[in-house]
Amino acid sequence: SDLSNFIAGLPKAELHLHIEGTLEPELLFKLAQRNQIPLKYQSVDELKQAYRFSNLQDFLNIYYEGANVLREEQDFYDLTWAYLLKCREQHVVHTEIFFDPQTHTSRGILFATVINGINHALQDAHDKLGISSRLIMCFLRHLDEASAFQALEQALDYKDLIVGVGLDSSEKGNPPSKFERVFAKAREEGFLTVAHAGEEGPVEYVREAVDLLKVFRIDHGNASINDEQLAVELVRRQIPLTVCPLSNLALKVVPDLENHPLKKLLDRGLLVTVNSDDPAYFGGYINENYLAIAEALSLSKADLCLLAKNSFRGSLLTAKEQEKHL
Ligand code: HPA
Ligand code: ZN
Repeated sequence: SDLSNFIAGLPKAELHLHIEGTLEPELLFKLAQRNQIPLKYQSVDELKQAYRFSNLQDFLNIYYEGANVLREEQDFYDLTWAYLLKCREQHVVHTEIFFDPQTHTSRGILFATVINGINHALQDAHDKLGISSRLIMCFLRHLDEASAFQALEQALDYKDLIVGVGLDSSEKGNPPSKFERVFAKAREEGFLTVAHAGEEGPVEYVREAVDLLKVFRIDHGNASINDEQLAVELVRRQIPLTVCPLSNLALKVVPDLENHPLKKLLDRGLLVTVNSDDPAYFGGYINENYLAIAEALSLSKADLCLLAKNSFRGSLLTAKEQEKHL
């Protein structure tokens, strides 16, 4: 359609993307076979049938199970490279990728195996596809502070490859304040900070992410609409929100996309961006996310241009690098 061609033609940056969430069922099966890991599912179709979620935790259980097939450096390379080919296809020219080291180190996979595989693919994408990238390490918030400190310790050897730290996994009951000291140490060490907040959790968690974790961006942030004073501050400081429409729909954060707060947030002047979160699990990469939310909320082409421009303005690229894309 005209709208999908328009979206496809926009140069975009992606700012909320979990690399483990790009593991397509076909690659999952291939890696299971290559690494001789038994699966509960007989076929790709049967696996896809399991991708029906009632909430965030439902998804996380399946997502961590899927990650179990990632063992060798080559596996992390193949995973990342497949995503980067999607980026080329969808006109994503810059991507800021999350990875979850604790998901892998807890299974005996070395931190080095994970980061080297991902990084080699990012290097190749820069050299061969002209796609720029940054890497952000997320702490799993359902695990304890000591485990997060351990992950941070391991990241110190890779400061040249990791620009920032984030916070993901089960939000409810795991407030940003649980990781205040880890994030303070991370900032001392020179890492930027981001955090998932206000996805399933309350707006108070968004406030904590800003005040206690000193985040540069809020991941999701849907609940921000519920606090007038916070929204004003996010506008004034132009703290970006990395919104993920198809994720919110799949995890029932919103009942339907017609009731998604994106347009209200955008019209209030927040620096809203559109992202795919875990595209292999939620039924769409970035263009499908733009299209779905555009149709549901009757977004104009001007709105779509603003969202694409915001993706660069909200990125970690320097002002000069951003200018090339604006
Ligand atoms: N929320 C929390 N944790 C996650 C997500 C998410 O959207 N995706 C992958 N891990
Ligand atoms: Zn996420």
